[in-house]
Amino acid sequence: MNRLLPGKLVIASHNEGKVREIRALLGPYGIEPVSAAELDLPEPDEIGVDFIENADLKARQAADLSGLPALADDSGLCVEALGNRPGIFSARWALADPRVPAEAGPGEVQGERDFGLAMRRVQEQLEKLGPDASRNAHFVCALAIVWPDGRAEWFEGRVDGTLVWPPRGDKGFGYDPMFQPAGRDQTFGEMEPDEKHSISHRADAFAKLVERLL
Ligand code: IMP
Repeated sequence: MNRLLPGKLVIASHNEGKVREIRALLGPYGIEPVSAAELDLPEPDEIGVDFIENADLKARQAADLSGLPALADDSGLCVEALGNRPGIFSARWALADPRVPAEAGPGEVQGERDFGLAMRRVQEQLEKLGPDASRNAHFVCALAIVWPDGRAEWFEGRVDGTLVWPPRGDKGFGYDPMFQPAGRDQTFGEMEPDEKHSISHRADAFAKLVERLL
């Protein structure tokens, strides 16, 4: 059975927020997280067809290049009435040009991310479906851990909720201000980080990883 032993672990992400969250989650287990940015590792194109494939390809590249075990996270917002979009394209919907690289040509999809724009896109698509369209949504977080010899383990976490409009709160990131988890009055954007992290998709996926590997 695969176990994660104390020592270095590459966090295959260039997103400082994610690296910080993962460091905090793994700190108590004697694991020394090293970020992909610290090792100057390139960011692979996320060409997988689902969250697990994208997490796997990020972790696999980092493990191959560094010779260390590597952990990657791929996450996003799935809106039921939109056929679970934006899903794996959640970050892309925040770009002025949201076309995927295959449509746009390599290097053509560029620009600053604007999640106000991404949330408006979600809202506009829902409005097109009419007032009775379901506003149910969930966040997904996939984690992949890959060892240099090619062994791998995958975990997926999820949190269900509903989409509010207008967005509320400025404490989170991404789509947090329009996502109200089931059974709560506040959006993720209004919650204190500790409260969000006790119920989030990332916490759910990490709990599964810790139970199996640590
Ligand atoms: P990734 O870096 O390709 O995994 O992109 C994930 C995207 O999904 C982020 O840029 C956010 O837009 C969105 N996302 C993932 N997790 C969260 C969350 O906890 N709150 C808000 N947005 C999230």
